[in-house]
Amino acid sequence: MDARDYFGYKNPDEEPGGPDPADAADEDGDRPPLFEEAVTLDDPATLRRIDPDDMLGRVMELPGQLVQARHVAAPITLDERMTDVDAVVVLAMGGSAIGAELVAAAAGDRLRVPLIVHRDYGLPAGAGERTLVVAASHSGETAETLSGFAAAQERKLPTAVITTGGRLAASATAAGLPLLQYRLGGQPRAAIGFGVGLVHELLARGGFIDGPDDLGAAAAAVEELLERIGPSVETDANPAKQLAWAIFGRIPVIYGHGPMAAVAHRWKTQLNENAKAWAAWEPMPEANHNAIEGSINPRELGEALYVIQLRDRAEPPAIAERYRVVEELLGERSTNRNEVWADGPSVLSRVLTGVAYGDLASVYLAILYQTDPTPVTLLAMLKERLARATGSDPTGAR
Ligand code: PA5
Repeated sequence: MDARDYFGYKNPDEEPGGPDPADAADEDGDRPPLFEEAVTLDDPATLRRIDPDDMLGRVMELPGQLVQARHVAAPITLDERMTDVDAVVVLAMGGSAIGAELVAAAAGDRLRVPLIVHRDYGLPAGAGERTLVVAASHSGETAETLSGFAAAQERKLPTAVITTGGRLAASATAAGLPLLQYRLGGQPRAAIGFGVGLVHELLARGGFIDGPDDLGAAAAAVEELLERIGPSVETDANPAKQLAWAIFGRIPVIYGHGPMAAVAHRWKTQLNENAKAWAAWEPMPEANHNAIEGSINPRELGEALYVIQLRDRAEPPAIAERYRVVEELLGERSTNRNEVWADGPSVLSRVLTGVAYGDLASVYLAILYQTDPTPVTLLAMLKERLARATGSDPTGAR
């Protein structure tokens, strides 16, 4: 049974191929949820009850984090050994890695050298003396990142560190490395303003980005969006809440091109970690060469998919045309779908507004599932079990 159909935010007639809720009720003998069981996204007390650690509030802090990131990075200077390099490698995982991926996506071909985000133990092939290594970890305790950092230190590679503390901060301080240390408790994924802002400012200050976008202007664009889709804006006027209702009970698949591909990746990880939900993402145009074919089987899951096309007003015409044809094909197959357009005067602002939109939608979805978005129980359990197995050896080599 699908609660969306019963609380006024989805008209099944508007959904091609969607089942008639009355038929579904007859078929499986399930009953429609009672009105008093409905979760509204518009009642502050309900939001506080399901989101006691205020993940919604954390998302609303994104513009403030971007501004603070600029202050944290301001005193940092990189010497010639750090800037006269052929590549930048960011060592990071999960919520810390996506910040660098978003910066690389926003900077695009304005990057002076390739930026590689290394999500693994050790260092990537080819890392050497002419590589700037940036170890980025919110906790400063992530095994894979510590392992790569240790390898870089052993090989005396130019290295900078971004963290709140932990062993990473202690080692960077002891070695006298450039350290961008910020203060923020809570979950790494909720520090995305620092994750993006600090990597961006470090690279901009090192001269790695030609014509870097202004972080302050991006923060203002995000602020403006949050005023339109934040928790205090009621569902009827709030497209992010409406999107959460549409995804509710379904598996979202997010498409994105260029900078929006990284944003689609962020949406997927936020839907996983906040809403504790299955989600997938697909980069365009690659998705046209495989993913589109995979929307057929199993047939009984067809209704369960929800495709979101993340659009950018600056996308090339060839990509716009591809989206049009994909939309046509999905329509013919009655696949549930929607478009979300990123707003803002620069690529960075469009990337960050896209992130803010997805972050909010993922927390709204968590609330619809009546799931506290903040704790990541399985993730914590996994880290704890691994730590027990490997002892204090951060490289995992033991
Ligand atoms: O979102 C999360 O909690 C994770 O994806 C973490 O970011 C990831 O495990 C890495 O941890 P940290 O960001 O502390 O290095």
